[in-house]
This record gives sequence, structure tokens and C-alpha cells, in this order.
Amino acid sequence: MKIWWKESVVYQIYPRSFCDSNGDGIGDIGGIINKLDYLKELGIDVVWLSPVYDSPNDDNGYDIRDYRDIMKEFGTMEDFDRLLEELHKRGIKLVMDLVVNHTSDEHPWFLESRKSKDNPYRDYYIWRDGKDGKEPNNWGSCFSGPAWKYDKETDQYFLHLFSEKQPDLNWDNGKVRTEVYDMMKWWLDKGIDGFRMDVISLISKQEGLPDGPAMINGYASFNVSANGPNVHEYLKEMNREVLSGYDIMTVGECSGVTLEEAARYASSDGSELNMVFQFEHMDVDGDPDNKWTDKKLYLPDLKTIMTKWQKGLEGIAWNSLFWDNHDQPRVVSRFGNDCEEYRERSAKMLATCLHMMQGTPYVYQGEELGMTNVPFETIHDFRDLDSINAYYELTGKGIFTQEEMMKYLRYKSRDNARTPMQWDTSTNAGFSEADPWIMVNPNYKNINAKEQVERKTSVFHYYKQLITLRHEYEIIVYGSYELLLPDDPDIYAYVRTLGERKLLVVCSFCGRTLDYRLPEEFKSGTVLISNYESMERKSGELKPYEAFVIYQ
Ligand code: NOJ
Repeated sequence: MKIWWKESVVYQIYPRSFCDSNGDGIGDIGGIINKLDYLKELGIDVVWLSPVYDSPNDDNGYDIRDYRDIMKEFGTMEDFDRLLEELHKRGIKLVMDLVVNHTSDEHPWFLESRKSKDNPYRDYYIWRDGKDGKEPNNWGSCFSGPAWKYDKETDQYFLHLFSEKQPDLNWDNGKVRTEVYDMMKWWLDKGIDGFRMDVISLISKQEGLPDGPAMINGYASFNVSANGPNVHEYLKEMNREVLSGYDIMTVGECSGVTLEEAARYASSDGSELNMVFQFEHMDVDGDPDNKWTDKKLYLPDLKTIMTKWQKGLEGIAWNSLFWDNHDQPRVVSRFGNDCEEYRERSAKMLATCLHMMQGTPYVYQGEELGMTNVPFETIHDFRDLDSINAYYELTGKGIFTQEEMMKYLRYKSRDNARTPMQWDTSTNAGFSEADPWIMVNPNYKNINAKEQVERKTSVFHYYKQLITLRHEYEIIVYGSYELLLPDDPDIYAYVRTLGERKLLVVCSFCGRTLDYRLPEEFKSGTVLISNYESMERKSGELKPYEAFVIYQ
């Protein structure tokens, strides 16, 4: 079925790092409003805004204290209303982050809940007795240590799959669900255009909360709670009660999701969500029990995973497409090559590879400039609690040395994506006049939006071109997908087909020139886009990080 959210390109804004309009070193809503013409120029259709709600900021806004208020550092509700209006004026939709697996421990519900066992809000969260003086089970927090925190007041533990300031809500309690649905309607009635649902696959916990397999730090992964027994029932209910009443877009962040489960979350029957974020391709360079490595990508593994999702959901559900977000290192440093010579080339190649697939593409702020990982020097340069906790836990237990851990953090830390957006060559990359809350990547004099908007051969203009193509060619949105050369270690090539028309997408993930023969049937096709000038291309070979798309 044809529908607008399948034809859209989404741009993710991490507000703390986007643009500071009031000189306190922290990005804000006013800053976003100041940059809307930049987004319009890029051509995106939808903005996904990471949380802007009132929060004590233990996890940069993913710990919400009041779902109906705006974080003071970001502005006021009037600022928010103006943002929504200004976006809509430009024909851009707004999708909000919905964080309802947990709240902040400063949310009034939790303040009540922890007071006594018979408090009316007790059952809004997950409380259990300890076992032999220890935690109720072996579950670990996503951010190191156990997923349980002892509370002296009532001599019980509460569950927190994330930080101890993010207690998990009890979705088995119907009152919790009703509160969440009411809050969602409140935002939708303001006119927002949908939700990105934070770790929505974790909301239904397994009966009896059994132990799970231990990871390198001795605890079971937070993914023991993925795809729990009632998750689909709750999402169907949410759909009936809320989502189905509006013309909106929904995407579920589905940590630990399988293909079979995704086909249910994002089923094209419209009974739950529109699409999911799956993470298998983000784990492709990690170990199953440990993400802290500097293992390099083996391309055939990535092709296997992407192809499985492309083919597996075709016709029955819908994919979202992403390389980057606020929880991942920068893709050009990870799957591409961020050295001076190949940074732009490989950033464009990666963009081609992703944007020609079936699904809704997401661009994370700065990705459209080919922004890179950051040369953090010491652990004190980091701000992300996940990175900081992992550093102390894993070095403290002697699992990694400090040098090893710094190397892994430089490669994989979420803070790589969270340094300020690089606007121009002025102080702090034009992000703020004050010292930013997190360091600026020193390469901003070279890599910044102003320079790239002015230069037609930039990564920015390449993304713009990819977005325009998606809007112009139905085959890019709706065509089927077929992988070519599955075992080739350096080339990712695939064909999209719609009716009589075909698209060939060829991407080299390699810094050497490779032999490559164009399939016969594409020889008379039109090149829609390429990261080399056609003059520079030679038949029979692929240049370093070359990418092109041929329409036949
Ligand atoms: C996933 C979010 O993307 C991440 O940033 C956050 O830390 C966790 N969920 C907890 O809300």
C-alpha cells in the first residue's frame, strides 16, 4: 500500500547538541528553529526529535520527570508550539520521542510508588523482594551493573533496565497503560505527527522474571526482556485506543527484535506500529556478549543481515533504514574511511548503499556532512553514562585495561554522535558562544555545514540528491530487492525491481581499485547518481569507495 511515511526521509535531531540559541552551551528549541531552513534545503520530510521533556538529565532526557512539560534548558512549551508551527509551515512533519518503558525516578509516580507497599502508585513500577540478601535475579542494566536497586524505605528492589534513575514502568498494570495513552493523545491533539517509541520491545517482562544467560560483566543482557509475552497485546491496545485515530507515523525502537517479531510489530495490517528499528546490523562488528570491541566490519556479514531484513519484511511489514543515531558511533568512521582522502567518498558511498534500499531512511544530524568519530583523550572527556559506567566496571573488574577501554570507547561510544553539530568555522563550530556541554570535534574547520552547503560536490549535496531521487523514483521506495555477489568481501551490489524497471546499486567498501564488470542488462541504463564524476569512472573497475546507481 502506498503511504506518505513510506515515501519520507526522516532527520533525527538530538537537541542538546544541535544548536544553542541562548548562549548556555546547551542546544535548545530556539536553536532548532533557527536552523529549519537548512533542513528544508536538505529536503527531508520528517523530523524525529529526541526527548525535550522535563528531565533531570541522567540519560540526557531519556529519563522523563514530566511528560507534559519541556526541559528548562531547551525552552518552554511556547517555544515548542512555535517549533511545530514553523516545521509545518515548511511542510515538515514532527515525530516525538516516546519514552515509556521507564520514567525518571523523580517522576511523581515513582516518588509516590517508593513511599510504601500499599501506595496507590506502588504497582506502577516493578518491585520485588531480594533473594538471599541479593538482587531478585541476574538481570543487568544496559548501563552496567545489576538491573535492580535496593530501596531501604520498603526493603524491596525496583527494576531498572537502564540507569538506576530510570525505573521500569509496570505495563501489566492497566492504569499505567491508560496514563500513557492519555499523554500520547495530549501530544497528538497538539498536532504532532507521530512517535518514535523508545525500547518499546522491552515493555512486557517475562512471567516470573527468570535469570538469563550472563554476559562478559556477569549479568544477563537487558534484552532478556525483549518481545515479552504481552507486548503485542499492549501495542494492539495502544493502536486501538490512540494511534488509529490519527494520520501519523510510528516507529518502534525494538532492541532484540527478530524478523518474526518485527513482522508482527510492523505488520502491514496496521494493527501495531508502522515500522521498527532493528539492531542486528549495528551488532555486526561486536561480540554477542560484549559490544566493547574495535572489531572491523566483515562486509559479507553486513550484506547477509541487511538482505535478510530487506527480503524478510518485503510485502508484509516495513523497514526503517539507518546507519547512525544518537546511540551509535559515526558510520563514516565505522564502516567507511574517515581519513582525509576518503572521508567524503566513503560517506557518500555508505549513503548510497542505505538510501537505495527499501524502507524509510533516517539521517542523523551531521551524518549529511560526513561527521566523524571524535579524538577523545581521557575518560573525563566523555559525558555519556553508558560509556563512563562501562569504563569503570570493565577496567575495575580487570576485564580490559584502561588503554583498551579508551580505544573501544573512541571507536564505539555514543558520545561520538553527541558532540555539537558543526555549523561553520567560528568558535565552537558555530554551535554556541559558550563552552559546550561536551567537547567539539576539532575537525570542524574542515567539516562544517556552511562550507558544504556552498560546495555542490559536498556530502550535504549528495544526501540532498539522494533524497530528491527517492521523491522522484517510485522504484526506490517500492521496488523489490535482490542481492548480487553475496560472497564478495568488498562490493555491496543489489538490484531493485518495480514492474519492468530496474535499479542497479553498486558500492565499493574498499580503499583499493577493484575489478568489476557491469551486468549486461544495465549497460544501456542511465546513471542516476555517483560519487565519482562519470569522466573519472572506467568500465571494468571500481575506484576506491566508488558508488553508483543505474536505472534501466
Ligand atoms: C534507547 C535510547 O535511544 C537511548 O539513548 C537511551 O539511553 C535508552 N533507550 C534508555 O531510554
